[in-house]
Amino acid sequence: MEDSERKVVVVGQVARDLVLSIDDLPEEGGSATVRERREMLGGKGANQGVACRQLGARVELVGVVGDDAAGREVLEQAVDDGIGVAGVVRRAGARTALLLDLVGPPGVRRLVEDVDDQVLLRPDDVEGCRESLRSADAVLVQLQQPGPAVAAALDACAEDALVVADGAPADEDTRRRVLSRADVVRADSAEIQALVGWKPDGEQDVVRAAQELLSQGPRVVALSVSGGGDVIAWPDGHVVMPLLGEEPVDPTGGGDSFVAALTMALLAGETPELAAWWAAVAAADVVRRPGGRPELDADRLRTEARRAYEEAAATTG
Ligand SMILES: Nc1ncnc2c1ncn2[C@@H]1O[C@H](COP(=O)(O)OP(=O)(O)O)[C@@H](O)[C@H]1O
Ligand SMILES: [Mg+2]
Repeated sequence: MEDSERKVVVVGQVARDLVLSIDDLPEEGGSATVRERREMLGGKGANQGVACRQLGARVELVGVVGDDAAGREVLEQAVDDGIGVAGVVRRAGARTALLLDLVGPPGVRRLVEDVDDQVLLRPDDVEGCRESLRSADAVLVQLQQPGPAVAAALDACAEDALVVADGAPADEDTRRRVLSRADVVRADSAEIQALVGWKPDGEQDVVRAAQELLSQGPRVVALSVSGGGDVIAWPDGHVVMPLLGEEPVDPTGGGDSFVAALTMALLAGETPELAAWWAAVAAADVVRRPGGRPELDADRLRTEARRAYEEAAATTG
């Protein structure tokens, strides 16, 4: 089967991103001139969906926007991006989430988020997409969404679907459900504790945390190490991936492209080790630009990941 025929459903946030690049933050009472402004479809769900689409999947989003102009515009952009939006609820009276990403001065990023409770997913929203979820080859579930909606999504996946969970579970019940159903679990360094129940200190601890999670069901676990790098572990091995590329311009969305590329590689039948390189190369690509929206090229990503993987294998013998 070609990658282009794989269907990926992403369950998560759909938002408008406003990305403003500035040289300096204004003093109180002062003002700053914006050097670059980008307004676009964003949110973790949409960004993961765009990445999967760019990597060749047929993508459907499950999420919530408001019935305002911003909601209409971001859905139009998703359609232009080739993404299915039949599963995105337009909630009457709700405001579409707005994520302000202030980038600059160099190395500094600030996020200001306006996310109304009304645009969080409810179990009913997810149950309305049962058919779509049931027919997906892979389902990406964002654990930032409320527990009951996450549970509904996990329940709706086909038995042989690749189920990928990203983030920190909202509560103990969700944590148990995620570990018993997800094939792949990913968390950044701030999210790990909610997943394993203790706080890893350093790379060796993160490897131990990943192995603990593997013993509870998932077959691939990816955890970020505080201070840089990611551990990707599977039942008979693990790799510690460095952060690739230059100093990032804006780390926003690094994890979202990471998890999307990891998913697409595993869906394509790559080993977890090579999939880890797809993920790291994709993350390094998105953090080079302001904003979380990926601009991935499937052939380039595949070639670069394989080259980096072979180089690493050659140097470690
Ligand atoms: N300089 C960098 N080069 C490559 N990847 C990076 C870099 N900085 C951050 N990352 C990636 O970004 C990820 C951050 O994850 P996360 O905090 O979940 O981001 P988000 O939720 O904003 O997408 C890390 O897993 C790491 O792989
Ligand atoms: Mg993240």
